[in-house]
Amino acid sequence: MYTVFPRREKPQESAYSIPEPDAIIEPQNYKNSEAAAKNSNAMRGLRQLARRLLSNVPENTVYGGPKQQSPSQRVTLANLRQKHARGEPISMVTAYDYPSAVHVDQAGIDICLVGDSAAMVVHGHDTTLPVTLDLMLSHCQAVARGATRPLLVGDLPFGSYESSSNQAVDSAVRVLKEGGMDAIKLEGGAPSRISAAGAIVEAGIAVMGHVGLTPQAISVLGGFRPQGKNISSAVKVVETALALQEAGCFSVVLECVPAPVAAAATSALQIPTIGIGAGPFCSGQVLVYHDLLGMLQHPHHAKVTPKFCKQYARVGDVINKALLEYKQEVESKTFPGPSHTPYKITAKDVDGFLKELQRLGLNDAATAAAEAAENIESSSKQSSGSG
Ligand code: KIV
Repeated sequence: MYTVFPRREKPQESAYSIPEPDAIIEPQNYKNSEAAAKNSNAMRGLRQLARRLLSNVPENTVYGGPKQQSPSQRVTLANLRQKHARGEPISMVTAYDYPSAVHVDQAGIDICLVGDSAAMVVHGHDTTLPVTLDLMLSHCQAVARGATRPLLVGDLPFGSYESSSNQAVDSAVRVLKEGGMDAIKLEGGAPSRISAAGAIVEAGIAVMGHVGLTPQAISVLGGFRPQGKNISSAVKVVETALALQEAGCFSVVLECVPAPVAAAATSALQIPTIGIGAGPFCSGQVLVYHDLLGMLQHPHHAKVTPKFCKQYARVGDVINKALLEYKQEVESKTFPGPSHTPYKITAKDVDGFLKELQRLGLNDAATAAAEAAENIESSSKQSSGSG
């Protein structure tokens, strides 16, 4: 059973809307065609100017301003269902903040998960348990601002849904209402979790299940251990996934299970399975942003990189190198050089400024300013000469 989850539609029309070029009366509709052409071009120019003046994107500021609304379409459950029906793999990646969300968005990833793995990869905890719903909401909000295209799924963190179905629904509502997500994910397949999943779906919220290794259950699992490695555990993975489907989940994550178990679950289910450490026979794959990018500075993965995780880059090394270089350049005073010292004051104004400083009795400051002006001028000359 699929829950088709409506998403925010096209951007609202602005109160200050300007007619689109289509609305311009074309010259052929004028009697005097030459005059009409001039008129039309002038109108077009005026409209462009008006658009520029009303735009919320500043033209010449030190920092970028508010961004324009993206016309790109949000991935919906219906899109995922179609993709799954066509046998096309679904891609999913985690994100926790605005920049990671923008990257995930730009890569055209189908689903962006604000995972409770934030506890580990962003907050430096050893497990996912400490992250709170309020903290998750803050991550969700940042991601919702950065990712306009992928379906946004927010994890219900440990402690936000186990007590009752009512608690689960209340938390899920907050993830959508305050966090700006499209759907929630919850872990596990105990009867109370299945009921909670069903209650959330009934409340009109799309739910992604999560079986196999469920990191929030580390206390009972006794560590981050793969699941489904014997007959009863393997059957349990498949049965739990089926129960989540029955409860109305639109998809199920299969984490750290042997490939044949994932293949069986994928075949048994009508909804897509999204694997992580579950081999290639799933309907889609998910990886943690920091893991796939090789940003392994968080305590757990710094020691143990998951065996299943392919590193597509070594971004951590690039960051380390850049920070070291910056530190060295600050210490050697080679940064900022002339090309990164952009704000100018004319020689005439420097003179006036020095006089004012002297008049205020700030002679040392005047000397410092004079030396700086000379220094900047000679380094600019040198760099333009050498360039
Ligand atoms: O929190 C998370 O990042 C997850 C993925 C590993 C699926 O649940």
